[in-house]
Amino acid sequence: MNKVALVTGASSGIGRALLDCFAADQRDLVITARDVAALRKAAAEISAQYGVKVTVIPADLADPGAPRRLFDEIERQGIVIEYLVNNAGFGHYGFFHEADARKMSDMVQVNIAALVALTRLFLPGMVARRSGRILQVSSLAGFQPGPLMAVYYATKAFVTSFSEAVAEELSGTGVTMTCLCPGPVHTQFAARAEFNHSRVFQKSHIATAADIAAYGYRAMKEGKVLAIPGCNNKVLAFVGRFIPRRRLVKVVRWMQEKRDDR
Ligand SMILES: NC(=O)c1ccc[n+]([C@@H]2O[C@H](COP(=O)([O-])OP(=O)(O)OC[C@H]3O[C@@H](n4cnc5c(N)ncnc54)[C@H](OP(=O)(O)O)[C@@H]3O)[C@@H](O)[C@H]2O)c1
Repeated sequence: MNKVALVTGASSGIGRALLDCFAADQRDLVITARDVAALRKAAAEISAQYGVKVTVIPADLADPGAPRRLFDEIERQGIVIEYLVNNAGFGHYGFFHEADARKMSDMVQVNIAALVALTRLFLPGMVARRSGRILQVSSLAGFQPGPLMAVYYATKAFVTSFSEAVAEELSGTGVTMTCLCPGPVHTQFAARAEFNHSRVFQKSHIATAADIAAYGYRAMKEGKVLAIPGCNNKVLAFVGRFIPRRRLVKVVRWMQEKRDDR
């Protein structure tokens, strides 16, 4: 039986790059996001290059009913998911009190609620089969509070905490959960969040989606719990523990600010 991977947020960036990793290992794929044209293009490219089967099921994960509909459609097609990648997510730059309220609740829905729902839907089957791997795409942002992207940073803190806890529960079941925590990556993320002019994205080295996908894919196959790509990022995640929170939050604000912010 072919081991099939479900990848959310597969229409661009890290999600699109992860498709190459699975397909290169001859895994069939189910791919989802809102942009149907981008999904179809990715499906055509992947199946032509690697000869694997790619099933497109579009979904808007800001809709609370979407995870259940996605799960039901996968079951209806008789597909068994061996790998679940919860990668879909987005951010927003600006003061929380000025932010669009609907956008903030959609962010919580996509980044947290859909991830929890999909994990809850697919995990019991994996545990029953004593086989499966889940890759949760979190962020370095999850290690500290993030002024000017307060909701985004908090969603990623949730994802990291949730993933580490469930990964521990899963020990001895044959199923693993890996939490990928990248620093800044060249994708559509920063432009969509309107913060590609922040100091965070002025760093000399910004990782590519292909490198981050390859790192996360390898960590998932090895069953690692926490995967932080890059030495600098590992240090940043670690030293934050020893800096007083009041100071840390000011440093993060400075990093987040655009160069012309005062
Ligand atoms: N880029 C970075 O610097 C960075 C750093 C750390 C972590 N991350 C995380 O990496 C993950 C992937 O982001 P990326 O950098 O690859 O950015 P990206 O190119 O903007 O990709 C985001 C993906 O999420 C999907 N998505 C967004 N809203 C959705 C919705 N309502 N329903 C379904 N799918 C939705 C998008 O598809 P559609 O628009 O087609 O729906 C797209 O495929 C995110 O969880 C992000 O938080 C990114």
